[in-house]
Amino acid sequence: MPTFETHTDANQHYQSGFANDFATEALPGALPIGRNSPQRAAYGLYAEQLSGSAFTAPRAHNRRSWLYRIRPAAVHKPFTQIGRGKLVANFAEVPPTPPNQLRWDPLPMPDAPTDFIDGWVTMAGNGAAESMTGCAIHLYAANRSMQDRFFYNADGELLIVPQQGRLAIFTELGKLDIEPYEIAVIPRGVRFAVALPDGEARGYVCENFGALLQLPDLGPIGSNGLANPRDFLTPNAAYEDREGKFELVTKMNGVLWCADIGHSPLDVVAWHGNYAPYKYDLRHFNTIGSISYDHPDPSIFLVLQSPSDTPGVDTIDFVIFPPRWLAAEDTFRPPWFHRNVASEFMGLVHGVYDAKAEGFVPGGASLHNCMSGHGPDAETFEKASKSDTSKPAKVDATMAFMFETRTLIKPTQFALETAQLQANYYECWQGLTKHFNPEQR
Ligand SMILES: [Fe+2]
Repeated sequence: MPTFETHTDANQHYQSGFANDFATEALPGALPIGRNSPQRAAYGLYAEQLSGSAFTAPRAHNRRSWLYRIRPAAVHKPFTQIGRGKLVANFAEVPPTPPNQLRWDPLPMPDAPTDFIDGWVTMAGNGAAESMTGCAIHLYAANRSMQDRFFYNADGELLIVPQQGRLAIFTELGKLDIEPYEIAVIPRGVRFAVALPDGEARGYVCENFGALLQLPDLGPIGSNGLANPRDFLTPNAAYEDREGKFELVTKMNGVLWCADIGHSPLDVVAWHGNYAPYKYDLRHFNTIGSISYDHPDPSIFLVLQSPSDTPGVDTIDFVIFPPRWLAAEDTFRPPWFHRNVASEFMGLVHGVYDAKAEGFVPGGASLHNCMSGHGPDAETFEKASKSDTSKPAKVDATMAFMFETRTLIKPTQFALETAQLQANYYECWQGLTKHFNPEQR
């Protein structure tokens, strides 16, 4: 297990801000001043640049960090393939996408010892890792910490949404501790190991093959609101100087590879730059809604976006449905019936989603693809149509979320064949009976 005994300050585990130019050192003077690559770095460290964007990307989109480490990342034995598991990275290879509404029960916990990486299964996605477009949506269920094993993902950045169990994510750039209601983003290429403080863990991963996740513009909302930049936390430098017989696992174009490595790759003593892992507590989201009538489009709940080349059209939107007050008068307050050009994969961290009275449970998932009709179930419609809207009501103790994409979210063969797929999902709308009467307004 990784151990980070050396922090600059145990009380200052994190630095605050979104994609700031951070600077952090676990030993005093480990960061060079006024230069990145001195002839000899302090403490006998190696300098190494980790780039997450093209060298020539415009300044606002240019992301890189300088790492000062005990050994360069190049020091390991050759990789050999260890298979694909249940992973998919090219969505041209999955079965035809059904236009049906789809919903799944939670993945069962594994019987065999399974770590965070072994516990992944790809449910859906679009595009392809090799062309750096689109995303893959995975579920994970794990029951043991990564032991003497480290991982990095060459295919994209990982947005991790825990539903059950805390994750202790030891990365090259420091440690992230997250629990359900929090998220973590691990950039492409950053090496890490995941420990499970609660013994078991389950959740969701959105693997972003494309442009890095960013905070959305706020337009007329103004300079504050939604996810505020200072609530994003990036770890301070922490390292281990540990030698032994370890494995370095990587995923490249959907295939897992493994190399022997004789030391822990979590050996970065100091770093600076704006390409680093971060976490965010979804309970800090400043939720904005209507105080008159109707409610805004769900884009009002946008936390992070991966932009496409078309202005205003995102490749991925990460949207949450947190606790909030519903105050709109003479309004059908749950999410309305709708069909979108966008496609929607939903998950539930906790509680009940306000459009579905039952069947959508924490750890479960639903998928409503391009132009597939969906919305509140019959029970929710009946209740909301008769409720008193002269008083505000609280949607409480819930956290649902959505990975919304501009292109079709194509379920994998696993997702279409698993026993967790609910064959009767369509029934939740069959009770929506005809109320139409041309004689009565
Ligand atoms: Fe929807």
